[in-house]
Amino acid sequence: MATNRTFTMIKPEAVAEGHNGAILKMIEEAGFRIVAMKMVKLTKERAGQFYAVHSQRPFYESLCNYMSSGHIVAAVLEKDNAVADFRKLIGATNPAEAAEGTIRKRYAKSLESNAVHGSDSDENAEIEANFYFSALEKF
Ligand code: RTP
Ligand code: MG
Repeated sequence: MATNRTFTMIKPEAVAEGHNGAILKMIEEAGFRIVAMKMVKLTKERAGQFYAVHSQRPFYESLCNYMSSGHIVAAVLEKDNAVADFRKLIGATNPAEAAEGTIRKRYAKSLESNAVHGSDSDENAEIEANFYFSALEKF
């Protein structure tokens, strides 16, 4: 995958509360093109595989339960400087620290239920996109 791509998920509570449209609007208005997108419900095991990097962290069990508690929207996004610009658009992990105008400031409920995921590097963006999408699905 080119380094101008990142990967995102809209997390269960934001989906359940009907914020998909508003969040995708913020993403598109910030200049990201949606390259691939699907709505899925993860099993707890699959959520655990996605967040395997956090398997030794105290919040891992709770995170896997949360991420498998409802539907999520997974998407691949394209823009110059995609990874860094998207992290800026989503805001700090803890919504209490998220800047005004960010997606988490507007839609996150808590540190865990923080509305959206954003890849933290080009390498992880590619790994995470491949977790959900085949090469043919990313046009
Ligand atoms: P994400 O991977 O979802 O984009 O979030 P992030 O990089 O901002 O934060 P990260 O450290 O990768 O944590 C992944 C997700 O785990 C939940 N979390 N809970 N209870 C806690 O202390 C805690 N810390 C993190 C959040 O849902 C966070 O987004
Ligand atoms: Mg992360």
